[in-house]
Amino acid sequence: MSAHRILLIYGGHAGGRTLQMVEAVTTGILMSGEPIELRPQPALDADADDLLWAQALLIGTPEHFGYMSGAVKDFMDRTFYPAEGKVDGLPYALFVSAGNDGTGAVTSIERIALGYRWKPIAAPLIVKGEVDDAARQRCMELGQSVASGLALGIF
Ligand SMILES: Cc1cc2nc3c(=O)[nH]c(=O)nc-3n(C[C@H](O)[C@H](O)[C@H](O)COP(=O)(O)O)c2cc1C
Repeated sequence: MSAHRILLIYGGHAGGRTLQMVEAVTTGILMSGEPIELRPQPALDADADDLLWAQALLIGTPEHFGYMSGAVKDFMDRTFYPAEGKVDGLPYALFVSAGNDGTGAVTSIERIALGYRWKPIAAPLIVKGEVDDAARQRCMELGQSVASGLALGIF
């Protein structure tokens, strides 16, 4: 059986909260036990080839000035035209680390996702402040459900 391919792109500071969420989401994917090939990439390093490779996409970002991080926006700026028309229906989910809000990051990504014609497969996960055990648990559940849904062909 060939592995299902998940691209995980993320922004945020080195050693920061978004990275902690990335680690927990990754743990959830591994815990699913499904045959998954995970490609975790800082958004600045990912490109259209990564996007075209993916069968599902996870996006992790801090909220910056009521928007997604510049790194994630840069990924979209660079990949939109190369991927346009080739990623219709790509299942995606997002998670956000925010100081006290997070909705601006979510709506900014959701709006652009409509342009790519990606398909949302989970409610956006927003963690405000520190990434505590409860937040880590929610991240793991997100990773697990995306991996299982992909493997079962639900998406
Ligand atoms: C430049 C900058 C802008 C920010 N803007 C917002 C914001 O608009 N709303 C919010 O809730 N938090 C905001 N924050 C707080 C971050 O979203 C929060 O600290 C987040 O956990 C940082 O994630 P990181 O540790 O992965 O970088 C901002 C932080 C920075 C550095």
